[in-house]
Amino acid sequence: MLVDVILGLQWGDEGKGKIVDYLADKYDIIARFQGGPNAGHTLYIDGVKHVLHTIPSGIFRKGKINYIGNGVVIDPITLVKEIENLEKQGVPVQERLVISKRANLILPSHKMLDAASENAKGASKIGSTLKGIGPTYMDKTGRNGLRFGDIIEEDFIVKYELLKAKHLQLLQMYNFDFDLNEMEKEWFEAVEKLKTLKQVESVYFINEALKKGKKILAEGAQGSMLDIDFGTYPFVTSSNTISAAVCTGLGISPKHIGEVIGITKAYCTRVGSGPFPSELEDEVGEKLRQVGGEFGATTGRPRRCGWIDLPALNYACLINGVTKLIITKADILNSFEEFGVCTHYAYDNKETKDLPYDMVNRKIKPTTIYFKSWGNIDAQQAMPAELLAYVDYLEKYLNTKVAMVSNGPGREQLIELADK
Ligand code: GDP
Ligand code: IMO
Ligand code: MG
Repeated sequence: MLVDVILGLQWGDEGKGKIVDYLADKYDIIARFQGGPNAGHTLYIDGVKHVLHTIPSGIFRKGKINYIGNGVVIDPITLVKEIENLEKQGVPVQERLVISKRANLILPSHKMLDAASENAKGASKIGSTLKGIGPTYMDKTGRNGLRFGDIIEEDFIVKYELLKAKHLQLLQMYNFDFDLNEMEKEWFEAVEKLKTLKQVESVYFINEALKKGKKILAEGAQGSMLDIDFGTYPFVTSSNTISAAVCTGLGISPKHIGEVIGITKAYCTRVGSGPFPSELEDEVGEKLRQVGGEFGATTGRPRRCGWIDLPALNYACLINGVTKLIITKADILNSFEEFGVCTHYAYDNKETKDLPYDMVNRKIKPTTIYFKSWGNIDAQQAMPAELLAYVDYLEKYLNTKVAMVSNGPGREQLIELADK
């Protein structure tokens, strides 16, 4: 059996949660492989909005296992809140959720370090979600981290205190005001609750499932342009967000990767600092934000908006080996008579489809062409000619087929495109 992958091709918030929830019905296991509660994945089920941060987006589907893989970083406080919220709504989380022992834990002091580091950066801050992601991955690669499996070990408190002491020293260097006591109390209470969840050994769990013929869907967080290696560094997150991370984040071999389904909005957004060549800092961008409801699912921050960026999307298709595309939020372009598509970048006196090594220090001028928009696409399965022309253009530019177009936030608001 192969593992299919769903991931974002832009700077996050492409609508991954909605698509994973829709497709989860066809799989046995839905697995998050990286990131942490910096993610906010929104699902609308029977008109009710749900936002998931750490729990995979298959949790609403009966009979499915949702797996938090070793590549994920977990904040016990956020995770327990998520579980309690879902349980209040009658979702039997305990029976549907399993967690890798190797997933690293976000400590309260990691969150303080995130805030202190951003504060010290001043105007050049990353625009982090302040969930402690960067410091936690730093401790993971620095070989200091605490892992989920540690919570049931005898020396857990000793390990915790050691790491906290290191953080307190670092915080002194930042000269940053903080109070850990309240958060620490909540954190330890949450850890107690997490002890009741099912812990698994990544490699055996996932490979035995594959051997038994279970169908697995890997759910990405963030987007390819936020990847630690290939994104708009240093304005990125601290994990690999691309398809390669499915192997390291779940413990499977590359030979088990099946379809790589890349999600892109019909336009583009970014939240936080960093390069965004096709950004619209005018009334058109503001209209996209208002009509598209472009406010962060995790932090509530207004998202920066612009036209779709095809050089960046092409780059993302290359790194991920995307086999199918899904376009979301096509309905938002209903409200525009025409819309732009960035086809090239101009920098260093040349026009090119290639991204520069250092996007931060290049003045990039986007080349934009315009497409006529469509009227209403609310009706199921009705694809206006203008939308088909746009899909056709994207397919040719990216040399990849578009499998679905999403035309609303609801689970069923999707048009599947037949093979042309
Ligand atoms: P994710 O992080 O990739 O899961 O995306 P977010 O949940 O952060 O942001 C996507 C937003 O767009 C959410 O509010 C979704 O409910 C919404 N959404 C997803 N697909 C569509 C769509 O096709 N049309 C509209 N109007 N909204 C959508
Ligand atoms: P989902 O999964 C959009 C951005 C932050 C910031 C940068 C680093 O919902 O698509 P971090 O907290 O990771 O250190 O922040 O990355 N960022 C996201 N932007 N969607 C996300 O997740 C994001 N997760 C992180 O805004 O610019
Ligand atoms: Mg999101």
